[in-house]
Amino acid sequence: ALISLRQLLDHAAEHGYGVPAFNVNNLEQMRAIMEAADETDSPVIVQASAGARKYAGAPFLRHLILAAIEEWPHIPVCMHQDHGTSPAVCQRSIQLGFSSVMMDGSLKEDGKTPASYDYNVEVTRRVVEMAHACGVSVEGELGCLGSLETGQAGEEDGVGAEGHLDHSQLLTDPNEAADFVKKTGVDALAIAIGTSHGAYKFTRPPTGDILAIERIKEIHARIPTVHLVMHGSSSVPQEWLKIINDYGGDMGETYGVPVEEIVEGIKHGVRKVNIDTDLRMASTGAIRKNLAEDRKNFDPRKYLAAATQAMKEICKARYEAFGTAGHA
Ligand code: G3H
Ligand code: 13P
Ligand code: NA
Ligand code: ZN
Repeated sequence: ALISLRQLLDHAAEHGYGVPAFNVNNLEQMRAIMEAADETDSPVIVQASAGARKYAGAPFLRHLILAAIEEWPHIPVCMHQDHGTSPAVCQRSIQLGFSSVMMDGSLKEDGKTPASYDYNVEVTRRVVEMAHACGVSVEGELGCLGSLETGQAGEEDGVGAEGHLDHSQLLTDPNEAADFVKKTGVDALAIAIGTSHGAYKFTRPPTGDILAIERIKEIHARIPTVHLVMHGSSSVPQEWLKIINDYGGDMGETYGVPVEEIVEGIKHGVRKVNIDTDLRMASTGAIRKNLAEDRKNFDPRKYLAAATQAMKEICKARYEAFGTAGHA
């Protein structure tokens, strides 16, 4: 059944678990997410980015999610629009039947230039007014996502601020968060706490203090009823990095957010955990390996099934680690 982000995350807060929000672009990702949820009895958040709409087309994307709800009617599914760059984008998603939208007013409409606080408040407030009238939830964002180690937003293909960010921009201010929530009425808030989008988050193996856990606690204490969202939460699995490179790929050395750190964040109020890169890496690694090991094959279903299986294992591991399992 289709549920809103507010309904799902209120339940998660009550029971102290987190929910991975996986990006979806195609059938294989959708099946991996749903089969993993079915096997672990987990509620689901699937999110569609602007890039996903461009790749699959809005009608296909919409029907992909609706098909999942039809095939697994017993699993609660939140259909979320990731990183809306304007109220108009969010309005179209509401019209398409999404149960939740993100208005990312931390950046201007180009999705690159950091926007003023007043701009962020204004566009987010307008989206909340429109969405709540339709029973749709809203996620806002405050602060600029970027690595505390590198000062870079990290995303190489279009989402996130450009250029170097200074330390004050990289951590969401708790007082500003309280004011933002009061002025906008958002259901969930994406906060900047040291993560960045994409595969290249950290250049060295994380030492166990990669996230600003103290900052999470401070923000949660100020806005306890608003659900905290952590973008850029891929763990960048070293085993998949190795498989990609062993079978002809060329990814550089890089590290992501350890699952244990995310679990620590969940203990302190993080409820929605955005993951895209990990499934991309598992999928690409599995396809490279499958094609290399079966050189006579030309049936795409064979290597795509391998990709689905690899993604499904990551989804299951996250549902279990975040405590989502058993709550469908
Ligand atoms: O927020 C970024 C997500 O990883 C989506 O990426 O815009 O390439 O689909 P995308
Ligand atoms: P990753 O690039 O770490 O998977 O983050 C995805 C994300 O935050 C989507 O909004
Ligand atoms: Na952002
Ligand atoms: Zn994001």
